[in-house]
Amino acid sequence: MTTIGIIGAGEVGSQIARAAISNGYEIVIANSRGPETLAALISDLGPSARAAHAKEAASDGDVVVIAVALKLVNDMPVDELAGKIVLDTNNYMAWRDGHYPMIDSGVTTVHELRQQQLPTSKIVKAFTHVQAPSLLAQGRPAGAPDRLALAVSSNHPDAVSFVTHLYDQLGFDTVDNSPLSESWRSAPNTPMWRHIVHGQTQDDLIRNLAAATHPAG
Ligand SMILES: NC(=O)c1ccc[n+]([C@@H]2O[C@H](COP(=O)([O-])OP(=O)(O)OC[C@H]3O[C@@H](n4cnc5c(N)ncnc54)[C@H](OP(=O)(O)O)[C@@H]3O)[C@@H](O)[C@H]2O)c1
Repeated sequence: MTTIGIIGAGEVGSQIARAAISNGYEIVIANSRGPETLAALISDLGPSARAAHAKEAASDGDVVVIAVALKLVNDMPVDELAGKIVLDTNNYMAWRDGHYPMIDSGVTTVHELRQQQLPTSKIVKAFTHVQAPSLLAQGRPAGAPDRLALAVSSNHPDAVSFVTHLYDQLGFDTVDNSPLSESWRSAPNTPMWRHIVHGQTQDDLIRNLAAATHPAG
C-alpha cells in the first residue's frame, strides 16, 4: 500500500487526495493551521485519509505532493522530504505570489527553484494544469478517444515514471516535458494554458508545448 503525503489541503491538495484514494492509496494530508482544522475534510475523505502536521505528512508519505504556492524563503520540511519523489503542483502567478525576478527574467523556472530549496528531494512538476474540481470528472480509460493528457517535468526519471503511472491510474495520458528547465512551457499564459478548462489530448499538448515562446524572449 503506497501512502501519499500531501502538504496543502486546499483546492488542489484535497482533490488529489480524493482521486488517489479512489485508486487505492492511503493519504496523510496537512495544511498550515494544524490537523485539528481538517476534521471536515478527513470525514469526507474517509478511512484512507488522516490529517497531520506538514512534517509528518512529509515523513509518512512514500511520495509527497506539495500543493502549496512556492515562497522565496523555503517553508517546506527539507529533512523529512529528503530522498523522496516530491510532486509540486504550484504555478507561479505574480499577481498572487509577488514578482520573483529570477523567474521573470527567465534565469530559472519556478520548479527549478523548488528543486534548489529541496536539493535532496526529486522534484517533479505535476497536476499544474488541471483545474482541481475537474480531476475526478475528466479521467478516461486508457485508449479512449477523448482521453486528455497532462504534462510532467523533472530532472529525475523515476519521478517522471511515478507520475506517468499515477496519471494513467487517474485516467490521463502523459507528455514528458523534462527536464525542469523546460517546465516554463507549461506555465500560465503559454499556448497549452488556453486549454486549462476543457483539457487537451496528448497530440495537442505536445503541439502546444512546442509552440511556447520563452517569456524572457
Ligand atoms: N486550484 C487549482 O485548481 C490548481 C490546479 C493546479 C495547480 N494549482 C496550484 O497549486 C498551488 C495550490 O493551489 P490551491 O488552489 O490548492 O491553493 P489553496 O486552495 O489556497 O490551498 C493552499 C493550501 O496550502 C496550505 N499551506 C500554505 N502554506 C503552507 C505551509 N507552509 N505548510 C503547510 N500547508 C500550507 C494552506 O493551508 P491553510 O489554509 O491552513 O493556510 C492550504 O491548505 C498553487 O500554486 C496553485 O496555483 C492550483
